[in-house]
Amino acid sequence: MSEAILEAKGLAKLFHKGGQEIPVLRAVDMTIARGEDISIVGQSGSGKSTLLQLLGALDKPTEGELWLADQAGRMQNVFGLAPQKIDQIRNRRVGFIFQFHHLLPDHDALNNVCMPLSIAGVSPAEAHTRGRSLLEKVGLGHRIHHKPGELSGGEQQRVAIARALIHQPDLILADEPTGNLDPQTASSILGLLLELRTEVTGALVMVTHDHNLARTCSRRLQLVNGVLESWA
Ligand SMILES: Nc1ncnc2c1ncn2[C@@H]1O[C@H](COP(=O)(O)OP(=O)(O)O)[C@@H](O)[C@H]1O
Ligand SMILES: [Mg+2]
Repeated sequence: MSEAILEAKGLAKLFHKGGQEIPVLRAVDMTIARGEDISIVGQSGSGKSTLLQLLGALDKPTEGELWLADQAGRMQNVFGLAPQKIDQIRNRRVGFIFQFHHLLPDHDALNNVCMPLSIAGVSPAEAHTRGRSLLEKVGLGHRIHHKPGELSGGEQQRVAIARALIHQPDLILADEPTGNLDPQTASSILGLLLELRTEVTGALVMVTHDHNLARTCSRRLQLVNGVLESWA
């Protein structure tokens, strides 16, 4: 048996809007093992982004539990931890990549990538060394002093990937990471994600509505009526 990193048990999410209840997730069960790459497809509005937010502890479920392996491999109940601990998990152990990169426009690629380390109190010299090496890994060693506006869409997304990986997270959560890119750039970004997943991190969960991209992942799931099913 491979080592589980994350386990979702009966996750449900209900939103309240204008006096109405909107059930989005009903009972999501999922075990993610180290080294896995998983894609999740589903129609627009099916709850894919909502699910990723729960898996990354950015939001709390209405019901259900999330268990994450600690550094020693013991499973801990994430939402039972102190808020400060949950913040730490979110910041250090999970790397988020979104469709729109959310890079800081006034900072160059290197500063964008190093930002999470600076926030965590790592010295500027060490942060820069690690940031530079990661930018080289994503093929941007020659662009480290370019600001986001001076980079192409694919290059911007590479910077965002480097930033998400800077803490060597156990889990990369990518929400439509290629949705904004042309097909060729999209497939090179996906290739990069899969390559880096094996090199520097634990597991990758990618949400996409592109079935061809989804097929590139070794485990394929779909979200239908608030429940995860295997697909393809
Ligand atoms: N904060 C919120 N308040 C109310 N409804 C929400 C909220 N966030 C998402 N929803 C609703 O939940 C459903 C799922 O949204 P989402 O997870 O973004 O779907 P997907 O990413 O699959 O397109 C949608 O119907 C959306 O309108
Ligand atoms: Mg979405």
